[in-house]
Amino acid sequence: MRYDDLSVCPYLLGCETSAALRVTMRESSLEVVQGDFVILPCSFFTTSPLSRLNVIWTLAPFSSPESPIQVIVYDHGQVIEDPSLIGRVAFAGIPWSADIILNDTRISDAGIYRCMVNNPPEAGDPGIGELVLTVLAPPSLPACQWDGDIELGGSVTLSCTVAEGVPAPEIHWDKLNPEEISLPVNMEGDLSGTVQIVNVSSQTSGLYRCSASNVLGTQNCYVNLSIYSPPERSSGILQGVLLTLSMTLVLLALLVLVLWLHRTGQDGKWKDGKDEEDECYNEIRYTPSLMKRSFV
Ligand SMILES: *[C@@H]1O[C@H](CO)[C@@H](O)[C@H](O)[C@H]1NC(C)=O
Ligand SMILES: *[C@@H]1O[C@H](CO)[C@@H](O)[C@H](O)[C@H]1NC(C)=O
Ligand SMILES: *[C@@H]1O[C@H](CO)[C@@H](O)[C@H](O)[C@H]1NC(C)=O
Repeated sequence: MRYDDLSVCPYLLGCETSAALRVTMRESSLEVVQGDFVILPCSFFTTSPLSRLNVIWTLAPFSSPESPIQVIVYDHGQVIEDPSLIGRVAFAGIPWSADIILNDTRISDAGIYRCMVNNPPEAGDPGIGELVLTVLAPPSLPACQWDGDIELGGSVTLSCTVAEGVPAPEIHWDKLNPEEISLPVNMEGDLSGTVQIVNVSSQTSGLYRCSASNVLGTQNCYVNLSIYSPPERSSGILQGVLLTLSMTLVLLALLVLVLWLHRTGQDGKWKDGKDEEDECYNEIRYTPSLMKRSFV
């Protein structure tokens, strides 16, 4: 009778008062390389039948922690996935475990996952477990740019921006020729690095490389600078003098032309006037004959 009591106990009072569902996470953090699959483990221990088992996985993504999503739900034997994850997520051992498999992982999958298990009438203690998933990704192709004044004595800024990469890629700038030298980089946030070159000279010309690298790889982009050197100062002055001289000559020639035009213009006017008189005279001279004709 005592033996019976013990075996019956879990299904009676004992269950609701002392026995409780317990969730354990076999890992507290996991890393996966973007594109690979990962199994997120969540075990639970219960003494009640599993007919009313309910499992909910949520994700608070690192990219938007304030808007968590329901990754996948198991309820009364039914499975519901978040629409954004359909085809990529599944339970791996339901109802015996709450593990899930996540295929074709993406950077946006990274975040804090919570596994909540309920098995009424048992209470959870705790009925919830948590793990952090990190999705590693190689650097994306960085974008190289230059900006500034490439004339002798000017200053130039080289900038390099990489859009993606976990862990955050390190950015290096090197000048490749005539010999390879590494340049001091100013980081602007995690993903952008710039180099300042002041008072550029012909030695500044050459090929520059930005490399973005993390544990998963390296990507490079390049800038080819050619510093524009204006002609020597002395020849500059000479050119200036020549330019001024020729400008003066042109101006003089223009002046002469204008004066000449002014004069011939006056002559022309006088001549034109004479012509007009001639025409008038002609008209007058012809008019009588026309009138004559009309009378004929
Ligand atoms: C994940 O991939 C494995 C093998 O690559 C496949 O068997 C499984 O069905 C996939 N799961 C989902 C949810 O797509
Ligand atoms: C710029 O560089 C030239 C030589 O390349 C040097 O003579 C000059 O003093 C420099 N100017 C400044 C402002 O540093
Ligand atoms: C860089 O530019 C110079 C001059 O414009 C050119 O001669 C040289 O071939 C270029 N180098 C590369 C790697 O593009």
